[in-house]
Amino acid sequence: MSHRAEFSGIRDLPELLRFSDGSPVTSDADWERRRLELTAMLEGLCYGRMPPRPSCSPVVRMIQPPVALRGSEQRSLVSIYETYPFADSDYRLEFQLYMSGAADAPPPVMICGDGCWRRITAETADIAHSRGFALVEFNRCALVSDPPFRDVSGGPREASPRDSVLQRRFKELDFGAIAGWAWGFSRIYDALEVSGVVDCAHAAVCGHSRGGKASLLAGALDSRFAAVCSSGSGSGGAGSWLLRAKGAEPLDFMLDAFPSWFSESFQKFRGQADELPFDSHFLKALCAPRPMLTTDGYADLWANPAGSCATTIKAREVYRFLRAPDDAAGWRLRDGGHGHEPEDWAAMFEFCRHHFSGSALSWDPTEVLYEDLPAGC
Ligand code: GCU
Repeated sequence: MSHRAEFSGIRDLPELLRFSDGSPVTSDADWERRRLELTAMLEGLCYGRMPPRPSCSPVVRMIQPPVALRGSEQRSLVSIYETYPFADSDYRLEFQLYMSGAADAPPPVMICGDGCWRRITAETADIAHSRGFALVEFNRCALVSDPPFRDVSGGPREASPRDSVLQRRFKELDFGAIAGWAWGFSRIYDALEVSGVVDCAHAAVCGHSRGGKASLLAGALDSRFAAVCSSGSGSGGAGSWLLRAKGAEPLDFMLDAFPSWFSESFQKFRGQADELPFDSHFLKALCAPRPMLTTDGYADLWANPAGSCATTIKAREVYRFLRAPDDAAGWRLRDGGHGHEPEDWAAMFEFCRHHFSGSALSWDPTEVLYEDLPAGC
């Protein structure tokens, strides 16, 4: 069945393979320089500058030895770790590791930051393990809190205090919650590398909705992640501000309702969504040539699945330039609405497995089922 997106905002997306001064990107070395421009724009205008990678190795400890996960048919074992990313402080993060009892070598791993929502169930762990993956979950809100949603019909929300431990430690950087959460994925990676229990050369990231905005940013900015997945992430994630399909979340709503997710300077684009010099294709192109998958429900109009497809198509210009196949930047759309459903999880693991080990994929991550994607995408 084909779908109609009914785009309202339609304009040409900012170019990926041209430098800001208009000159073309013609070599891999050029692309490395262009990457820096894209990163500087995303950090400088939107998410805020991410804290740097700590110069020391983290101290990592197992604080709960593996116990059987109740209800798991794949004999999932869950253990809990803590990591101290900075040697000079007691700042710590905790994460859960789900491993199949049958794993005989460090397996590839998917890192999810949505522990605040408690999304990992025995079913999710089994979906991971039956496709050969371990699963890690941490609570991104332990890095930067996520103030509860407030109705903004009476006007914009007050500026948030930006007072997490991390924001106080790096006061000069003006990063919002999404960038703080994204930084967390990289610190979990550091910890996994030290622990040696999973195959860090095949570590992927994922998250849902606001957590998917963070996983996409994490994957875009830290190329140690071998694959990047994002579910229903919409505006500020895989969706599009410039190509707005009917029902998509507007930029101004997001600036009013969730100011703490972004840098303070992003507020200057209020009322000027069409003037943004970047869109989600920047994030996706920064993942290239690594596999990048978005999952969405067709009925999740707020997350703008059609705009996400359109920006992924644009990002493929960079995938091709870097000699990656088109299906390395893909999507999986399903019926239904907003959610990180078992079939989304399954799609993420199957997509990563396909790219990591060449196993066949039973669906086409490039198949377009919208009739009216903007020309040029
Ligand atoms: C709100 C917000 C979205 C976000 C979602 C979520 O709907 O407008 O941008 O993705 O919350 O995180 O659940």
